[in-house]
Amino acid sequence: MTKEIRHITVIGAGNMGHQIAISAAIAGFQVICTDQNPDALQRARDFADTYLAGRISKGRMSEQEVTKTKAGLRFETSLAAAVQQADLIIEAIIEKLEVKRALFSELDTLCPPRTILATNSSYIVSSQIASATNRPDKVVNMHFFNPALVMNLVEIVKGPHVSAETVELLEAVSIQMGKTPIVLQKEIYGFVVNRMLQATRKEALNLLDSGVASVEDIDQAVMKGLGYPMGPFQLLDLTGIDLAYHVGMEKYQSSGNEADKPSPTIVEKFEKGEWGKKVGKGFYIY
Ligand code: NAI
Repeated sequence: MTKEIRHITVIGAGNMGHQIAISAAIAGFQVICTDQNPDALQRARDFADTYLAGRISKGRMSEQEVTKTKAGLRFETSLAAAVQQADLIIEAIIEKLEVKRALFSELDTLCPPRTILATNSSYIVSSQIASATNRPDKVVNMHFFNPALVMNLVEIVKGPHVSAETVELLEAVSIQMGKTPIVLQKEIYGFVVNRMLQATRKEALNLLDSGVASVEDIDQAVMKGLGYPMGPFQLLDLTGIDLAYHVGMEKYQSSGNEADKPSPTIVEKFEKGEWGKKVGKGFYIY
């Protein structure tokens, strides 16, 4: 057991947060999951019940293990109550810099001085958030992958302000969660995996927008020709087209480079509310 980290609070119970919380609870941490939207929190609670019951029926966990996991997993609507005992916060809220900075500034006043404040952001480096707090050495990127209960990679980014101790603790927590941590020695937009992913995605959207091939055929090509488990459009539907839109807009706003804007197809789908699997329609219908 990671001695210094026993209590973990996950903020944001959406696509990523609820599964990070369940993973941490299964690993034996005392976990609180919180969200400003009570409906999201209820969905997370329902998912946890169904998922953990499924673990028993599939023979992956014993009834005792599930009972212990449930006892260590709380859903809490009050942010202050959720974070007051936390050794580690994992933030998984909307991908907007100003919203994250406001939250971290509030957390800095609500949490004990020892608390590490990690962000699960896909693209925003923690140095852009750390200055909103008085504990920059403990503000860090800890990036999980979707779906967090299945994907076992965690990217930890050692920005210039982050202490070696913070990185070591997050490596230990990741390992205890059954994940493989990799450490980036410097901050870079998109970290390792999303830089690789963006290159494929950009070309897939380019091929689609130029009328070269259909969504289905591009996905087939990437799966059968490159051996990827999913095609780029299937993955966009899974991770959320709204997220791809916000990521593109954030990048464009900070770089001013037109090429960073989300592609016309992403903008169109975002505006139509076709955000992917979570709403039943994206590039595919669910
Ligand atoms: P989501 O939209 O599914 O969930 C976000 C949740 O945060 C919502 O339930 C919302 O009510 C809540 N929220 C928003 N502002 C809040 C606040 N101020 N306080 C408390 N709760 C708040 O988003 P998703 O996809 O889970 O992404 C969350 C973060 O994880 C983002 O930073 C994203 O870049 C990152 N991420 C997303 C991945 C994905 O595949 N969706 C993969 C890896 C990282």
